[in-house]
This record gives sequence, C-alpha cells and structure tokens, in this order.
Amino acid sequence: MTQDTTDVNVLLVDDLQENLVALEALIRQPGRRIFTARSGEEALSLMLEHPFALAILDVQMPAMSGFELAELMRGTERTRGIPIVFVSAGGRELNYAFQGYESGAVDFLYKPLDPHAVRSKVKVFVDLFRQRQELQEAKAQLQRAVSMRDDFMSMIAHELRNPLNSVYLQAQLRRKMLAAPKPPDSAAMLKMVERDERQIRSMVRLLDDMLDVSRARTGKLAIVPGPFDLSASAAAVVEAIQEQASGSGVQITLAAPPSLVIEGDEFRIEQVITNLLTNALRYGEGKPVAVTVGQREEEREVFVSVRDQGMGVAPADQERIFEQFERTEGVSQVPGLGLGLYIARQIAQAHHGRLEVRSARGEGSEFILSLPLPSVAP
Ligand SMILES: Nc1ncnc2c1ncn2[C@@H]1O[C@H](COP(=O)(O)OP(=O)(O)OP(=O)(O)O)[C@@H](O)[C@H]1O
Ligand SMILES: [Mg+2]
Repeated sequence: MTQDTTDVNVLLVDDLQENLVALEALIRQPGRRIFTARSGEEALSLMLEHPFALAILDVQMPAMSGFELAELMRGTERTRGIPIVFVSAGGRELNYAFQGYESGAVDFLYKPLDPHAVRSKVKVFVDLFRQRQELQEAKAQLQRAVSMRDDFMSMIAHELRNPLNSVYLQAQLRRKMLAAPKPPDSAAMLKMVERDERQIRSMVRLLDDMLDVSRARTGKLAIVPGPFDLSASAAAVVEAIQEQASGSGVQITLAAPPSLVIEGDEFRIEQVITNLLTNALRYGEGKPVAVTVGQREEEREVFVSVRDQGMGVAPADQERIFEQFERTEGVSQVPGLGLGLYIARQIAQAHHGRLEVRSARGEGSEFILSLPLPSVAP
C-alpha cells in the first residue's frame, strides 16, 4: 500500500463491520487515509505502527470497551497524544465520564450519527494535526537556520580573533619601544607597520567577503560594467599576489596576449582572479602556478585559467566547493571560510559567464573563468 507523505491518518474502531463501513463513507476524503479496526487489540497495534490525527472509538465493544482502550492508550508514550472521539449510544453511557485522559483531546459523538456533526468534528482534528505538523516543520527549519548562524558566528569570531590579537600585541610592543631610553629603529618599525597592514587588510578582506555573500544572496551583487583589458588585470593581480607571497618561493607564470579588451566589472573580475590565485597558493603545495589568459574564437568568449599542481579536488567535491562555507577534508589547518569560490562564481554568473574546475585528486586543479565577448565586435 502506498501512502502520500502528506496524507493524514484517521483510525476507526468498532466491533461491527457495517458501522465501520458507514463511518468510513462519511469521512473519506482525498488527503486522508482511513484505518479500521474491529477490536481494541487490533487498534493498539495499528497505533503503534502509524501516526494518527484522530481515533474514533465505539464505546460498546465486547472484549475491550472504548473506554478501556482509551485507558491503555494513555499508558503508552506513542499513543498518549492521539485525540479520541468516543461514539456513544448516549443515555446511560453518558454518565461514565471518561477520567484521566489528560493530554489528548477527548470528544463525543452520539448515535444515531449526524453526518454533519461527524464530518465537522473530524475536520477539526485533522486540521489541528496538519497545523501541528507544519509548526513542527517550521520549528525544525528555524533551528537549522539558527545553528547555521551560530556556526557562522563562531567561525567569523575565530577568523578575526587571531589577526586582531596579533595587532594588539604589536601595539603593546610599540608602546614598550617608545618608553625605552633608546629611540626605536625606524627600519624595524617599518617592518612592524607593514605586518600590521597585512593583518588589517586580511581582516577587511574577510569582512568584505561576508558583505559580498549577503549581497549575492539578496541579489545585490552590483556589477559596474565597462571596457577593460583582461590581460592587464591578470598581470596586476599576479604581481600583487607575487608580492604578498614573496618568500614562499612559489613560482607564478602568466601567459596572456598583449591586450584583450572585454566588457565587464574590472574590480570584480580582478576579485575572481585574486580568489583563484590565493587558492592556488593555499592548496598548491608550494608548486608552480600557471595563469593563462586567452580567447576562444568559435565560442566568442575569453577565459582566465589558474592551474596549480597541488592536492586537487576529488570529483565528489567539485560542485560542493562552490557553495558557501564548503571546504574539502584536510584543509582545516589552512585559514579560510569557504566563501571565495562561492563569491567568484556569483561574479562570473553576474557577467553571464562561468566558473568551472577541472581536477583529479593529487594531480592539481585548474579553475577556469569564462566570460562572453560583447555580441557586436568593436
Ligand atoms: N586550487 C585548489 N586546490 C585544491 N582545493 C581547492 C582549491 N581551491 C579551492 N579548493 C577547495 O575548495 C574549498 C573552497 O574554496 P574557497 O575559495 O571557496 O574557500 P577557502 O579558500 O576555504 O576560504 P576563503 O573564503 O578564504 O576563500 C577550499 O577550502 C578547498 O578545500
Ligand atoms: Mg579561497
């Protein structure tokens, strides 16, 4: 038997088959699945197996009365919360007030059954059940969102704490030097200031990334297009990164045509190339990195490829890494939040371009940014 997951289950319990058939006919509806049981035992085993929005119990049954069944339901965790509607012959039975069934709702229907009363009572309980389910789903979603935000906050705090702490220590050191009898050596001082600047720049970059992510999420990642030379941009980024990475001994080569003018947001495209190159240095295991700029005539597009010979990206991770906060296993020692590729791809797409990866684990990676050429040749 197949069941739509959004179906709501209703249980009918009566020792007389004809009563079950009549009741079922009354309340059958799309979106509801009706279960029937001829005895208390049968009903209990169904209740342990399925969730029910409502159980309609005949009060007068030979082996176990509806009241006795309700008493048993009360004693079991799984069945305790199921609302009960007793079907009673009225008169004498009404004097037995059912006692002690606290948590589930309890209601009565009287024989002969009034079809309208039956339908509306069932509807009330089914609606209530649906609402409670929706509420639970919303609550679960909210909890997921809250815990994601908590993770995010602690990541940010962690990422900012180290550079801030180091800038603070530097400031204290500076204070000591100023208090010393001998004036501080200006060359040493310059080195320290440069260090501060690097730390501060990396914090600003982190905050900028976070802003870009929230802009991208709300569709406000602004692109200010204009003509610019992609070759010159790539050269500028390579030079800036090389300067930063000086001392790491990593060799970065650039192959590009003398000039390749395209239409786009120069600042944003440089941001993409910077992210790719930073990754190539981070995850490239110190091996050479090659940047290539070129044009694919047939497709009328240009590309920037950044290729390293490092750890590579396994096929299973190749889509995931473009999502927010997604990093591969074994990079936790390397600083980073997992935002760079997400932002880079958003920028590529905002230019009607693509950002793709080609890689095999252990064989390095190539990240390729492709951008369309203006549709009318200059
Ligand atoms: N060149 C590469 N080689 C191997 N793995 C890479 C490479 N570039 C990215 N990755 C993997 O993809 C993940 C996501 O990269 P992404 O640039 O989005 O974030 P990040 O570098 O971890 O942090 P940041 O937000 O500072 O950029 C990285 O953590 C790494 O696991
Ligand atoms: Mg990165």
